[in-house]
Parts: sequence; C-alpha cells; structure tokens
Amino acid sequence: MKRLIIVLLGLILIAASANAGVVGSKHDLSTSGAIADKSTDQDRVCVFCHTPHNANPAVPLWNHEMSGATFTPYTGLDLDHTPWTSAAGPNELSKLCLSCHDGTVAVNSLINNANPTMGSGNELDASGKLVSSANLGSDLSNDHPISFDYTVADAGDVELVDIATVKSSSNLHFYGSGETDMECSTCHDVHEFGATADMQPFLSESKSGSNLCLKCHVK
Ligand code: HEC
Ligand code: HEC
Ligand code: HEC
Ligand code: HEC
Repeated sequence: MKRLIIVLLGLILIAASANAGVVGSKHDLSTSGAIADKSTDQDRVCVFCHTPHNANPAVPLWNHEMSGATFTPYTGLDLDHTPWTSAAGPNELSKLCLSCHDGTVAVNSLINNANPTMGSGNELDASGKLVSSANLGSDLSNDHPISFDYTVADAGDVELVDIATVKSSSNLHFYGSGETDMECSTCHDVHEFGATADMQPFLSESKSGSNLCLKCHVK
C-alpha cells in the first residue's frame, strides 16, 4: 500500500511538472520568475501581458505597450504565399510577442499598473529592453515566416502537409477568422516553457529529430 502511494505521488509530481505553466518560467517576469533581471517589486505574473480591464488590444486582454517599429518580412527562396509588406506589418497576434521581442519596448512598459521595477545587466538593458538572442529585432527577414495563411502556401504544394492533418496530428494551432493563419504561437506556447529540453523554449511540439518541422514540411 505504502509503495502504491509513493508511486501515485510520483505520477502526480510528473504530471505537475509536465504542465508547469507560466509561473516560475522565463515568461514570469514577476518576483517569482526565472530570469535574473526579474521584477523586484511586482509579484503578479500575468500583469506583464494581461489586464482584466481597459486592455489594449482588447484581445487577449493585453496589458503590454505595443511596438511602433516597422517590420521587415521573410521573403524566401520559393514561397507560395505573398509575405506581408513592411507598411502592413505582421498580424496583431504576432505583434503581441514582438512588443517585447523586437527589443524596442521595455518589458515592464505596461498599460495599467505602475511599471514594475526590473533588474538589468543580464536579459535586460538599463531601460528594460531585451538584449541577447531573445531580441529578434524588427528585421524578421532572417526568421521563419509568420502571419500568412497556411492554406495559401499549402495549395498545390506536395511538400507541405495539408492543414487538416497538421491540426489533427499535432499541438500546433492556427489563428485568424478561418483558423488558418500561421503566427509565432503556431510553434510556441507562450505559457509553457517546456518540461523537457526538446520542448524548450516554449515549444508546442518537440523539436527532437526535427519533429516540429516535419509536422508541416514533407522533407
Ligand atoms: C509573456 C506574456 C504572457 C504572460 C506572462 C501571460 N500570458 Fe496569457 N497570453 C499571452 C499571449 C501572447 C496570448 C495570445 C494567445 C497565444 O499566443 O496563445 C495569451 C492568451 C491567454 C489566454 C487566452 C488563450 C488561451 O490560451 O486560453 C488566457 C486565458 C491567458 N492568456 C491567461 C493568462 C494567465 C492567467 C496568465 C498568468 C498566470 C497569463 N496568461 C500570462 C501572453 C502571456
Ligand atoms: C506549422 C507549420 C510549419 C512548421 C512547424 C514549420 N514550418 Fe517552415 N514553413 C511553413 C510554411 C507554410 C512556409 C511557407 C511556405 C510557402 O509559402 O511556400 C514555411 C517556410 C519555411 C522555409 C522557407 C522556404 C522558402 O521557400 O524560402 C524554410 C527554410 C522552413 N520553413 C523551414 C522550417 C524549419 C527548419 C522548421 C522547424 C524548425 C519549420 N520550417 C517549421 C510551415 C511550417
Ligand atoms: C512582456 C514581455 C514578453 C512578451 C509579450 C513575450 N515575451 Fe517571450 N520572453 C520575454 C522575456 C523577458 C524572456 C526571457 C529572455 C531571456 O532569457 O533572455 C522571454 C523568452 C522567450 C523565449 C525563450 C528565449 C530563450 O532564450 O530561452 C521564447 C521562445 C519566447 N520568449 C517566445 C515568445 C513568444 C512566441 C511570445 C508571444 C506569443 C512572447 N515570447 C511574448 C518576454 C516576453
Ligand atoms: C516554425 C516554427 C516557429 C515560428 C513560427 C517561430 N518560432 Fe521562435 N523558435 C522556434 C524554435 C524551434 C526555436 C528553438 C531554436 C533552437 O532551439 O535552436 C525558437 C526559438 C525562439 C527564441 C529564442 C531564440 C534564441 O536564440 O534565444 C525566441 C525569442 C523566439 N523563438 C521567438 C519567436 C517569435 C517572437 C516568433 C514570431 C515572430 C517566433 N519565435 C516564431 C520555432 C518557431
């Protein structure tokens, strides 16, 4: 009986760590967070990205200042979709990520709640902006394409898995009114850093053996 309880407790612990969530992850910028330059005076985790009222943009109740940068798209070798123009920029959902990850807006630049005090000199510079490789910049021409309709790229392309199969055989999500747009959050799960190295950083599918890439690309 004792052994059974120990085994059950072990299983519960494994289940808990497999779904650790945003608290204590690199996306927890509060005092309980994982980064060295985490806040010294704000213990609320969600507040860096969400607010219950007066959000902007409204969906998903956003609380972080958006970036005013002009973005450059990946233009590709042999793309079947037409990339967005710099004038239009990426879709709003990906711009949520870029509000921190283009490196032009401080991570503690919030709409509601006084801007928390952050550390600096590690992940952040003195003004609270991301430094290091997590700062993708606003030139996305050297990053995997985002903010386009997957079905347009896939139409007639035998080297891409059809979207119905991708959806039914993976944890990858598509967005927009038809749920066909590919965004940062197609590959990334912003709330879950990943319990094992192959699921990190914040991946929705394991990158082991390039499983993630092979969910869409027939190569
Ligand atoms: C680093 C930024 C960030 C933090 C911190 C964060 N979120 Fe989010 N959240 C997002 C983004 C971006 C989306 C948009 C959808 C997506 O990308 O999955 C989202 C979407 C959501 C959604 C709607 C979609 C879904 O996944 O159900 C809920 C609910 C949510 N967040 C709750 C929370 C709560 C509760 C917390 C705190 C415990 C939190 N989030 C912390 C960035 C964040
Ligand atoms: C959710 C599906 C999906 C995933 C996952 C994915 N890709 Fe893509 N990838 C695409 C689509 C769609 C395009 C655009 C194809 C087009 O328009 O012709 C693309 C474009 C590319 C291109 C540019 C092709 C060109 O003509 O310039 C490369 C290279 C690439 N992906 C590699 C990868 C790698 C490596 C991975 C894994 C780290 C990956 N992709 C993961 C769907 C995906
Ligand atoms: C409120 C600011 C903020 C927003 C919004 C945000 N992030 Fe982050 N993100 C961070 C910080 C801070 C780190 C930790 C950086 C570091 O470790 O150097 C991070 C780390 C990451 C990492 C891991 C980088 C690494 O080196 O391990 C990934 C991947 C990532 N974010 C993706 C996303 C995606 C995708 C979105 C949108 C769905 C998003 N982030 C939205 C602040 C943000
Ligand atoms: C096609 C899938 C895919 C898309 C789309 C995608 N990423 Fe990633 N991203 C990855 C993978 C896989 C890694 C891990 C790379 C590695 O481990 O070598 C990664 C790593 C990162 C990192 C860490 C980089 C580093 O070197 O520290 C950040 C930050 C990040 N992504 C943010 C974003 C943001 C923001 C977007 C949208 C603008 C985005 N990603 C779109 C697959 C993707």
